[in-house]
Amino acid sequence: MNICASAETFMVSLKPNLMCTCLRPQTFSNGLLRETGEWVINFPSADILWQVDYCGQVSGRDVDKFAATGLTPLPALHVRAPLIKECPINVECRVRELASFGSHDLFVGDILAIHADEEVLDEEERPNPRLMRVVALCNREYWQPSTYLARLRFSQSNPPGTVRGLAPEASPGSAPGKTEEASE
Ligand SMILES: Cc1cc2nc3c(=O)[nH]c(=O)nc-3n(C[C@H](O)[C@H](O)[C@H](O)COP(=O)(O)O)c2cc1C
Repeated sequence: MNICASAETFMVSLKPNLMCTCLRPQTFSNGLLRETGEWVINFPSADILWQVDYCGQVSGRDVDKFAATGLTPLPALHVRAPLIKECPINVECRVRELASFGSHDLFVGDILAIHADEEVLDEEERPNPRLMRVVALCNREYWQPSTYLARLRFSQSNPPGTVRGLAPEASPGSAPGKTEEASE
């Protein structure tokens, strides 16, 4: 059982439902994934940023990161790797393919289950990035993207130059529900 920070984790396919994580061969986690063929992608919130950074600085070879961070392991439904209670979204995965390119190995996995805390879902049961307090890593800095900009496909009903489109109704703290011209 281990925790590893991974920025190189993303969706690969919707049908079949696949995600991937890219891990350097030197990491302890790389060996664990090869050995068990299973892992859980835990989406953190800004509330546990210290723990995220810590888990990306030390190795599970040397440290029990659950004990060191105080994060809480919870049993998963289909895999032996644990969910993390403090993460609002946890995705259980089983390795389908492994590809090695150089600095990182690509683990592509079938999504077996998605666990989402009610508190981070909107009325349509979609994860709301603001409620999740999503953390982004850019230029070796952590950021919290929380400004709503527009709905997908807003370019189809708004003129060029519009940088803010239709706001999501009832999204906490969102922009008003009308089309806005670029103003900032
Ligand atoms: C925010 C953040 C993101 C990271 N993303 C990755 C990544 O995608 N792939 C990777 O191999 N290492 C990544 N790292 C580095 C590993 O988390 C780090 O080497 C860690 O100590 C490996 O732990 P382990 O040996 O217990 O597996 C990241 C580190 C941080 C802080």
